[in-house]
Amino acid sequence: MCGIVGYIGNKSADSVLLVGLERLEYRGYDSAGIAVIDQRGLEIRKQAGKLKVLNKHLKENPIAANTNAGIGHTRWATHGEPTTKNAHPHTDEAKKFAVVHNGIIENYQALKDSLIKEGYKFSSQTDTEVIPHMLAKYYKGSLEGAVQEVIKHLEGSYALAIISEHHPDKVIAVRFGSPLIIGKGKGENFIASDIPALFNLTKSIYYLDDGDIAVLAKDKIKFLNCSGKKIEKKEKHLKIKDKKIDKSGFKHYMLKEINEQPAVVKKIISKHLKNGHAIFDKLNLTKDYLAKVSRIIIQAAGTSWHAGLVGKFFIEEFTRVHTEVDISSEFRYRNPVIEGDTLLIAISQSGETADTIAGIREAKSKFIKVLAVCNNVESTIARESDAVIDISAGPEIGVASTKAYVAQLVSLLLFAIYLGKIKWTLEDKKVSALINEIKKLPEKIKKTLADQKLLKKLAKEYSEAKNVIFLARSYNYPTAFEGALKLKEISYIHSTGYQAGEFKHGPIALVDKHVPIICIVTKGDIYLKMISNIQEVKARKGVIISIATEKDEEIKKHSDRVIYVPETTDILTPIINIIPLQLLAYYIAVSRGCDVDQPRNLAKSVTVE
Ligand code: F6R
Repeated sequence: MCGIVGYIGNKSADSVLLVGLERLEYRGYDSAGIAVIDQRGLEIRKQAGKLKVLNKHLKENPIAANTNAGIGHTRWATHGEPTTKNAHPHTDEAKKFAVVHNGIIENYQALKDSLIKEGYKFSSQTDTEVIPHMLAKYYKGSLEGAVQEVIKHLEGSYALAIISEHHPDKVIAVRFGSPLIIGKGKGENFIASDIPALFNLTKSIYYLDDGDIAVLAKDKIKFLNCSGKKIEKKEKHLKIKDKKIDKSGFKHYMLKEINEQPAVVKKIISKHLKNGHAIFDKLNLTKDYLAKVSRIIIQAAGTSWHAGLVGKFFIEEFTRVHTEVDISSEFRYRNPVIEGDTLLIAISQSGETADTIAGIREAKSKFIKVLAVCNNVESTIARESDAVIDISAGPEIGVASTKAYVAQLVSLLLFAIYLGKIKWTLEDKKVSALINEIKKLPEKIKKTLADQKLLKKLAKEYSEAKNVIFLARSYNYPTAFEGALKLKEISYIHSTGYQAGEFKHGPIALVDKHVPIICIVTKGDIYLKMISNIQEVKARKGVIISIATEKDEEIKKHSDRVIYVPETTDILTPIINIIPLQLLAYYIAVSRGCDVDQPRNLAKSVTVE
């Protein structure tokens, strides 16, 4: 969640930190701050609000010293409101130690109570502030020594970057449970919670593991374990290209990313469809192993969980392997039954979602293999899994996931076809018909994106709605869930998705003439069942907006409005049907004047439980 950067070298630390923070702002944007250090001491600037507020504050209150070392932070609040006082970096009373933190110190209250009893004075409501006070308490001349002593007392998860006025020539990084990377430069070294902060700075990196401490000087990096013993870490060379990330003329990243979907799908297809076959030749799971898999558990969070719900349809239909889908935060704590030939699939755009990582660890502790379906092959999830499917969506900056969702669906679809072939559960004729349709998806998505007039008009009409309901059945009920999530997260309108057949078992009580009900009713096996469900709602005066297959005239009789999408095979419809729902959410949020790319209370990468 929170973004962390650290720097030591010959450049001006504050400028390096601010560039890094800008690239990490998707991790949290409640408040931001930096601490820099030179021979004269520690200087701190922090502000509530987005990074631009800190930038303005720094212009008005420039850092006096020409400093070459510092740490920075962009916050997603856990303990304490997003105020300037609660913003990081936090310091001890004498301002000798400054700390930025990502994670949660679960026993902070007990630590704080005992520090207060000893006379330490706190100035924030955060869990983090115990750390600089404890550094002051345990400091006996060695910063590394104090850090080792402090972490003995911490429970929970943390990635920390620390500087001290006593040691202007060092920056320290510590990891336990929250991701942290060290970048090695020439005469300069870096700390970052995520790779984008290091774009254009260095390609040589070290991943910290739990319990690792890194001591950075300008031209040296020393690694210690939590008891202070020197350890060797393997240097890795980043293969990903430095990416120029901009809006390419679009008003928001979200709109840009929605429009990138035809190209993303095309890329995945060209990677995994060869000579009429689904190919995963670089997958680190043998065909012999996959042939034996008798059960699959998918675990993921949020939008990725919705992708998993669709993935279950793909996998069960094409492979007949029993597949369950779990929300990561539930899976990890319910002592799941996991037997020998079970494969765990972890889906994650960021690859850093704490709950999903914990689910992977739970599965690995039960000795089963884990396949990550991920958009970040350098992430913790990708590194901790036995095999990875890179969904190749490219960096997703808008907090609301769009292109990564569609990329997850297409990747799961092709993997299911691949597995179906291995298990002999898919006939060649069926495969070639499917593949023919899959190849047409990029064009069909493009067509869906081509005319946005009606969606813009509907967005204006419904921008003041208090509640919006999304209904669908079968392959598309997860589309209803995802449509509702997109709308609520960026427009703050309450919205919920239901399986249309389940609606009459209670939620139908919500229907009246003020509630827009978005029904996904594209052609397929359950089309007529869906029409019956729509009629039940219509009879209660619900306002029906249908997402229907082009040329379906019948649907007009049952709907107040119809949004048409191109026809495709029933099982592929979730890949197209989500597109108008993404756009509708986007335009409604824009009409309401919401901050589409950085909605309130959210962060792109959820690295705390
Ligand atoms: C919603 C959204 C979130 C994420 C969820 C999991 O638009 O983006 O619901 O899907 O936080 O994140 P990842 O996929 O990074 O594990």
